[in-house]
Parts: sequence; structure tokens; C-alpha cells
Amino acid sequence: MRQKIVAGNWKMNNTLNEGLKLTTEIVNMVADEVRGDVKVILAPPFVLMPQVKNLIKNVDKIYLSAQNCNENVSGAFTGEVSASMISSIGATHVIIGHSERREYFKETNAQLAKKVDLALANNLTPIFCCGESLEIRESGNYETFICNQIKESLFHLSADEFSKVVIAYEPIWAIGTGKTASSQQAQEVHAALRKYVAGQYGDDIAESLSILYGGSCKPDNAKELFACPDVDGGLIGGASLKSRDFTDIVKSF
Ligand code: PGA
Repeated sequence: MRQKIVAGNWKMNNTLNEGLKLTTEIVNMVADEVRGDVKVILAPPFVLMPQVKNLIKNVDKIYLSAQNCNENVSGAFTGEVSASMISSIGATHVIIGHSERREYFKETNAQLAKKVDLALANNLTPIFCCGESLEIRESGNYETFICNQIKESLFHLSADEFSKVVIAYEPIWAIGTGKTASSQQAQEVHAALRKYVAGQYGDDIAESLSILYGGSCKPDNAKELFACPDVDGGLIGGASLKSRDFTDIVKSF
């Protein structure tokens, strides 16, 4: 069985008090309402991570993720945070290659490959994001584009390393726009990605890979998306900032 995952990417939202209130609400709702086989991941901004960790430390269903890490081990990179620092505070995951990082911070596939290596070397599960712009979607070449993102950032990994990675497909045209990919569009890309991974690493690894969908996923569309055979959960932005919406998405399986 593939791991079912719902991850909340808070992006640059929530002060300390807001983040602790949101976490406390999610902890209570998840404990009461969510079935045991879904992994819930919270990705707050770096400064909130230790205190969020403190609130979830006794909750076995909820895990902590960073939203990014630097591609260097350590050193003179003012303002940056390393994979080993993230791991040292008890986080288990790190989002790598979010489209906002690619677009605003010009992160490249080669740079993301280094981040993935450091995440794995520090026992963090990379949640590796891929996805096409509207222009590429309309050109029809989106599957080739997405597969190339995967190839250039992940296919240097050994089979053992690759089996620790989670992939998130996030069409850029659906992020924060309220315009979700239809379940057919999501399933088409997820199936193509799984086939592509099978070609490189074999059927067993491809079958056990969790592929999340992200992009305007909300309580009212999560059920249909999560029912697709190759959609194993979601990476949630806007709706992860409201405890009721986020928990309802988690409950959509
Ligand atoms: P959204 O963001 O749910 O607000 O569209 C998703 C993401 O960027 O991970």
C-alpha cells in the first residue's frame, strides 16, 4: 500500500501565536477525526518549526517539514538554513523545488538535485515538487517538461535513495488561483510520472511512490482528486491555513 499523505505548506504566513493556534486546532481535530493510515505533515516557516514540533511531538500521525533547504552543507550563506539544521530540530521532511522557489529564487533542476542529496543524507524525506506553467500546458508538451524536472533532479539517486522520495505534482496555473486541475488532468500526469519512474527504477519502486497533487486543493474537491488511482494525497497551500478546511481535506480519503 502506498502511503497516503496530506501536507500543509503555510508558505510565508502566520506569526508565532497564529501558528501555534493553528497547530493546536489541527492536533485536536486530527486526533479525534482522522484515521490512522494517513500521514499529516505541517510545513511552517523556519522560525516557527521548533515550537510547532513541540506541539506535535506526542502525536504519531503528524510530522514536521521545512519548506526549503540550502544546497550547501554549511558555511557563509547569510539567511539560509541547512538540511542538517532542519533535521536537528526533529523535522522529518523538506519541500524541495516548489514552483515559487523556482520562479522567484531562480532555483534550477541541478541545484535542486543537490538539495535532494543533502536532505537524504540528513534523513529528511524530500517532498519534491514539479509542474508546468500555463504556457507549457497549452503547448501540449507538459508531460515531457515534468518528466525532465524529475530526471534532472532525481534520477541520479540510487534505487534505495529514490524509494525515500515523495513527489508533488503542482501545475503552476492551479496554485493559489482557485483553478484546480480536474481529477482527469491530475490522474493523467500522475500516471505518466509513475510510468516514467518505473522505466528508471522498476515497477515495485514506482508502485510504492507517493505522488501528491497540489494546486487549489480544497475540502470540496479533495475527495474526487484523492479517489484517482495515482493520486496519493495533497500538498495544500491556502486551505492549510484554516484548521477546519485542512482537516476536512485530510478526511477526504
Ligand atoms: P494552493 O497552493 O493550495 O494555495 O494552491 C499549493 C502549493 O503551492 O503547494
